[in-house]
Amino acid sequence: MQDQEGLKVSHYRKTNQFPFIAVALAIAVGLGFGVPATGQDAGPVSPNLTPKLRDLLRQEMLSIEQASKDILSALIAGDDARVAGLAQQIYDSFILQQSMTPDDKQDLMAAVPKDFVTRDQAFHRLSADLAQAGRDGDREAQHAGFGRMIEACTACHVRYAADRFPMLAE
Ligand code: HEC
Repeated sequence: MQDQEGLKVSHYRKTNQFPFIAVALAIAVGLGFGVPATGQDAGPVSPNLTPKLRDLLRQEMLSIEQASKDILSALIAGDDARVAGLAQQIYDSFILQQSMTPDDKQDLMAAVPKDFVTRDQAFHRLSADLAQAGRDGDREAQHAGFGRMIEACTACHVRYAADRFPMLAE
């Protein structure tokens, strides 16, 4: 489906777009839930990705890193609306969703363990909570939510991106 808002970020958009990995989760459920997650559970995922997926993942990562930095600036300025907008932008993860073909999605499912998918989904949910805290103007919840989101970044990197962030493993 071509969405002509495409690459623009609409901060308060209620959206049906799913995050990158949430799409994959839906496929995983469709394809055979209950297959035990064994073997390939932890360890860097990037080497198993197709070049296109790797690019998409890195693009998403860079964009959520920038959004996270901007959230910090908004938090310390008490700009609730901006916190909400940026967190919503992370939640939407629109770039990946727009650029993935059905084949890409299958490639992704073949390459990453289920726990990775679950973590990504949980991460996106945290960003949705943060967006809500911003909309509510609840500063305490924004601070706590931001902390939880950053913890989720690190937790996933320790497990699945230690090749990119070797110091995390120390
Ligand atoms: C579900 C897992 C997961 C979560 C959650 C996650 N990341 Fe990542 N991130 C990765 C993986 C895997 C890589 C390695 C990608 C590669 O090397 O190709 C990565 C790489 C990165 C990179 C390096 C990109 C590059 O160009 O090499 C940055 C920056 C980054 N993440 C930021 C973040 C931030 C900020 C958050 C949280 C707000 C976050 N990530 C949450 C899995 C995750």
